[in-house]
Amino acid sequence: ANQTLIAPSILSADRLNLQRDIQAADAAGADLFHIDLMDGVFVPNLTFGPDFIKSINQITQVPLDAHLMVSTPENYLDSVVAAGADLINVHVESTKHIYRVVQRIQELNVRAGVVLNPGTSIASIEPLLHIVDNILVMTVNPGFGGQVFIAEMMDKVSQLAKLRTAHSDYTYSIEVDGGVNEQTIKLCQQAGANIFVAGSYVFGHDITQRINNLKQALIN
Ligand code: DX5
Ligand code: ZN
Repeated sequence: ANQTLIAPSILSADRLNLQRDIQAADAAGADLFHIDLMDGVFVPNLTFGPDFIKSINQITQVPLDAHLMVSTPENYLDSVVAAGADLINVHVESTKHIYRVVQRIQELNVRAGVVLNPGTSIASIEPLLHIVDNILVMTVNPGFGGQVFIAEMMDKVSQLAKLRTAHSDYTYSIEVDGGVNEQTIKLCQQAGANIFVAGSYVFGHDITQRINNLKQALIN
């Protein structure tokens, strides 16, 4: 059920040639587009809003993964869903009511994910494990593309995979984000991840070749 998906992060795409880059990634077999929403409060950077997701949705059929790095994500759920997101990932620390946020996303018929920062433990989401559709393990500190992969996070990924095996009611997919390239993607897959976000590795290079490299690094 948890298919292997390559999710290019458009944070690193060329913003002045965004349509070109998205269509190149689409043609190269991107499975999911990862869109980073940052509000300058939850993380020290600013990016896109819900309208931007809507524009992307108009130029590709590839499903969209909204990674909300904003405080009070409940304020954006309806507009992000209306914009066409297929998966919404919310940081545990970004809301006082993470359980309610997950329920709300699911009520809107969208897959709901929770995100663990490098310093956030699995224990913080233990009460959510039976309801979440996805767990996003950050393999860098959120806020910027092009950072170095934190290999220690692989323990968290393998723990989550182990917990899912041990509990028949846990069905979440496991996503990794940050520093993913043709080498680190292998470690992520070995640990048990199945959704692989990659930004700076894919964009600013030969997009087709880079997506192929990622696919080839994976064991089918
Ligand atoms: C960082 C974002 C990532 C970012 C990853 O806060 O969540 O999605 O685009 O970029 P790379 O793949 O360059 O580490
Ligand atoms: Zn992201």
